[in-house]
Amino acid sequence: MRVAAFVGSPRADGVTDAVVREVVRGAEDAGADGAVFHIGLLHISGCHACLKCRETGECVQEDDMKPLFSELRKADAVVLGTPIYFYYMTAQMKAFTDRLFSIIDRGVAPRFGRKAAVLVATQGADDPELFQEQLRSMRGAWDMAGLRVQDTILACGFERAEDVMDDSEIMERAYAAGLELARSGI
Ligand SMILES: Cc1cc2nc3c(=O)[nH]c(=O)nc-3n(C[C@H](O)[C@H](O)[C@H](O)COP(=O)(O)O)c2cc1C
Repeated sequence: MRVAAFVGSPRADGVTDAVVREVVRGAEDAGADGAVFHIGLLHISGCHACLKCRETGECVQEDDMKPLFSELRKADAVVLGTPIYFYYMTAQMKAFTDRLFSIIDRGVAPRFGRKAAVLVATQGADDPELFQEQLRSMRGAWDMAGLRVQDTILACGFERAEDVMDDSEIMERAYAAGLELARSGI
């Protein structure tokens, strides 16, 4: 069982990373092999809409997304982490998400099969209801690519990793989500 985690924050040691790592730690304790990729530090362009992937099944772009397609293919389950930036996922996570177009076939079936997923979202605002609509929309987008979010961990009101790491309720939720992810990987 392999769990690949994708962190969409430009801060490699930020709030999102801290929570994602706790999900991965839970999955590893349940026997999974975990790997964390910081897409916020990579160079991933948006989709060019050339539609070549419709013919070949592969994206023509030679950027940092290329190795991530291999990681996605190999993974049995995934963790998708993003801070809320201006009411949605970060631009880096959106570019990653748009590029998943190439892993959806003409019949809108996911080429890499279905994989269980956990969404980790973090936000500065304290109100957990504020971005529920946006989180629903993210889950819908990833579901189309075969990444089926079974649990969402939302950390509100944090700006520093140290502070979220001190929040035992969120960290315990994250760890339990990781355990469950490894046990229920599709
Ligand atoms: C450019 C930018 C935009 C942001 N937009 C929002 C926002 O719309 N709503 C919100 O609640 N927090 C917003 N935040 C705060 C972050 O979502 C929050 O601090 C998050 O926990 C940071 O996660 P990170 O440490 O993993 O980067 C924004 C932060 C930045 C830098």
